Amino acid sequence: MQHLIPSLASRLAAQFSHDILSASALVHGGAAVVARQAERLRTLRPRTIVEVGTRHGAFAALLSGLADTVFTLDLHQSIHARQVLDFAGAANVVPLIVADDPAKGRLLDALDFDLAFIDGDHSREGVALDFAHTRRCGIVLFHDYADPGFHGVTEFVDSLTHGTIVRDAPFAWWFAPGVALWVPLSTAPVEGAALTPLPLREREGGSEAPEPAAQRRPSWRDGTPFCTAGLRCR
Ligand SMILES: C[S@@+](CC[C@H](N)C(=O)[O-])C[C@H]1O[C@@H](n2cnc3c(N)ncnc32)[C@H](O)[C@@H]1O
Repeated sequence: MQHLIPSLASRLAAQFSHDILSASALVHGGAAVVARQAERLRTLRPRTIVEVGTRHGAFAALLSGLADTVFTLDLHQSIHARQVLDFAGAANVVPLIVADDPAKGRLLDALDFDLAFIDGDHSREGVALDFAHTRRCGIVLFHDYADPGFHGVTEFVDSLTHGTIVRDAPFAWWFAPGVALWVPLSTAPVEGAALTPLPLREREGGSEAPEPAAQRRPSWRDGTPFCTAGLRCR
């Protein structure tokens, strides 16, 4: 997994420019930490991820290979996002533009997803709002945790008193009560795990073909023991 992160990043930068990667979780903190989160996502195998904060779509391109569908929301339209996603072969990513936070909240409330990635408004209030509209899914991944430039993210994550927090800066995970029982919480790289196909695999010669659907691991939502009472399960 680890070598695929810089590969995706460098291909995007070569095709577009390094600006495409600016402020992107794809490159923030280095390939190892990003690969750990990707490995956790691969293990969880969410069917639908919602990302708050698309920017140019670089992280959505990564998420594309780790879920069936990715909705990504932003207040601003990037002229590059669709090109980036098309280049990455991320046809399952649906970029959505919302007018303001209330519209975003209504859209989030209407979407069905089983994992959220919050990387939009980094103020404490902004993160709290996005969490309020996504927490029902059971697993929320925050970006820019413990980044000195984004105290709001850190303050909000550290204020959470329920569920389980896994800190792996600049990422932090929140698992609803009960969910974390199943999730590997170690921050160590997962050794020997089968690689999940990532976007651009076709351009890499097809050496990492997608797993046949029948061999796919179930989503974390598939096992009722891992479904927390009170959560809206699929
Ligand atoms: C750090 S960038 C996202 C980077 C992207 N997640 C990635 O890793 O490639 C933050 C994005 O959040 C958007 N944003 C800012 N405030 C927002 C809000 N209140 N709701 C949704 N998106 C917001 C910005 O327009 C910007 O594109």
